[in-house]
Amino acid sequence: MSDVLYFNGRFTTTDERVLGVEDRGFQFGDAVYEVFKFLGKRPIFLLEHFRRLDRGLRRIEIPMPWDETSFTATMRELLERTSFDDGIVYIQVSRGESERAHFWPDDMTPTAIAYARAFRFPDAAKKERGIRVITTRDARWGYCSVKSVNLLANALAKKEAQRKGADEAIFLADDSTVREGASSSFFAVKSGRLVTHVLDDHILPGVVRDAVIGLALAAKIPIDERPLREAELFDLDEAFITSTTQGVMPVSEIDGRIIGNSRRGEVTARVQKLFDELEANPK
Ligand code: PDD
Repeated sequence: MSDVLYFNGRFTTTDERVLGVEDRGFQFGDAVYEVFKFLGKRPIFLLEHFRRLDRGLRRIEIPMPWDETSFTATMRELLERTSFDDGIVYIQVSRGESERAHFWPDDMTPTAIAYARAFRFPDAAKKERGIRVITTRDARWGYCSVKSVNLLANALAKKEAQRKGADEAIFLADDSTVREGASSSFFAVKSGRLVTHVLDDHILPGVVRDAVIGLALAAKIPIDERPLREAELFDLDEAFITSTTQGVMPVSEIDGRIIGNSRRGEVTARVQKLFDELEANPK
């Protein structure tokens, strides 16, 4: 599908082949990305996505092509030029293009792209019924806090989940602790408390994860940011995943075992409602 594409300071369409074969994003996975949601052309959590992009690029020493003002203006213009009202925007900033060599030159100009895609957000039935997930070994690298385009391990895990009739794969560390989903953050509910992995280099600092934690604290739902053990997974009251595209999505089955009473639990329903309200009426 052809649509509006932002490329290095200008607008074109996705029909134009803008990337060179020696772009380091393509050859080395040397790039950082973001995905934000928009509803009625209104970007959701735009600054949170901007900040995470900025942190990720700094971490791997790629110059940030925008400041907050130019980023906001560019994304707003992209949405104005886009033909549909609801969807996601994919942004990617790579180190740029240079003759292939592991050592990159110091004077590189980053490649920045952004385009919108229509997206079918999960329907109400799924949000109530919950999804099936599987667990799989976390074969990713040591910089998972950077939203890097090195997504091969994530893509393989998702495909494994799909082949097993599940929607998401949850990564387990070698020490059998639970990390996050292949494209989502993971939360467990046990005895009225939320449990989720602490922010470190093993997980992505999810924008929705952060919002959910804020909402839960305000609603006096206690949270433990600690490693959950694999063995605890099968003794949970409830579980859910969070992401920009899925929002708060209940998990009803893990590796074929039913969680709680096999549909959305009470705490999950509360958090989901609070989050949906926040998205609909941002402060
Ligand atoms: N992925 N963890 C991983 C590994 C992710 O890829 C994502 C999101 C999340 C949730 O982050 P957020 O709440 O900021 O969306 C956690 C996006 C949606 C993607 O890759 O399309």
